[in-house]
Amino acid sequence: MRPVTQAATSAARKWTRHALPKPSRAAATSFTVSQPESQRRLATGTAGAASHSPTSFDSPFGQSGRPADNTNKVPNFGQYMSRSNESTNRVFQYFMVGSMGLLTAAGAKATVQDFLVNMSASADVLAMAKVEVDLGSIPEGKNVIIKWRGKPVFIRHRTEGEIKEAENIKVESLRDPQADSERVKKPEWLIMLGVCTHLGCVPIGEAGDFGGWFCPCHGSHYDISGRVRKGPAPLNLEVPEYDFPEDDKLVIG
Ligand code: FES
Repeated sequence: MRPVTQAATSAARKWTRHALPKPSRAAATSFTVSQPESQRRLATGTAGAASHSPTSFDSPFGQSGRPADNTNKVPNFGQYMSRSNESTNRVFQYFMVGSMGLLTAAGAKATVQDFLVNMSASADVLAMAKVEVDLGSIPEGKNVIIKWRGKPVFIRHRTEGEIKEAENIKVESLRDPQADSERVKKPEWLIMLGVCTHLGCVPIGEAGDFGGWFCPCHGSHYDISGRVRKGPAPLNLEVPEYDFPEDDKLVIG
């Protein structure tokens, strides 16, 4: 029994070796070559050209979530290009740029104009900016104080003697040298702000050592032309803008 069994076993082995295919070099090569199709296309540079004809809907970035075979592909924009000739296109472009420029300029002008109109003074404020005074009611040798833009304004109807006194003075000796003729338009009318140039008090008229105004706050003396003569005030009393539209009319502002 034993020799028969051994003979059968060896026969079976021989048959098995003969029947199974031997691993060959060709098979190994075919396994190496069978890499993914997309890699093979990239390597050969024939992607899409031979096996896939591009259409106007092809995207270089892949479709349906599938990565593109060749990301170097440039999309075809041919369907968006103008069919008109070049000069027609240029005229249209110039027209559009010019129109947009005009619209922008008009909008900017309207914005700036609105801003300036809003910021400018209203009519009632402008009306307050000027004050008209009837000079016929002010006798010679008298002072009148009026309010202009929230400040007191002194109006002095000077006498002949006061005018002479104001003119006959050595201007160089003054702290703030100013001739009387530089401070008045008509010698008989002296118009100036009633605000002390030291710290802003309101001086008292017909007082002080020089027959003009005296500031009681710190003792500044002004003469009959409103020039500082004594005390801490550094400057003469300020003369505002004014005019005489008629003989007996004064407009301040
Ligand atoms: S405020 Fe007039 S002297 Fe000082």
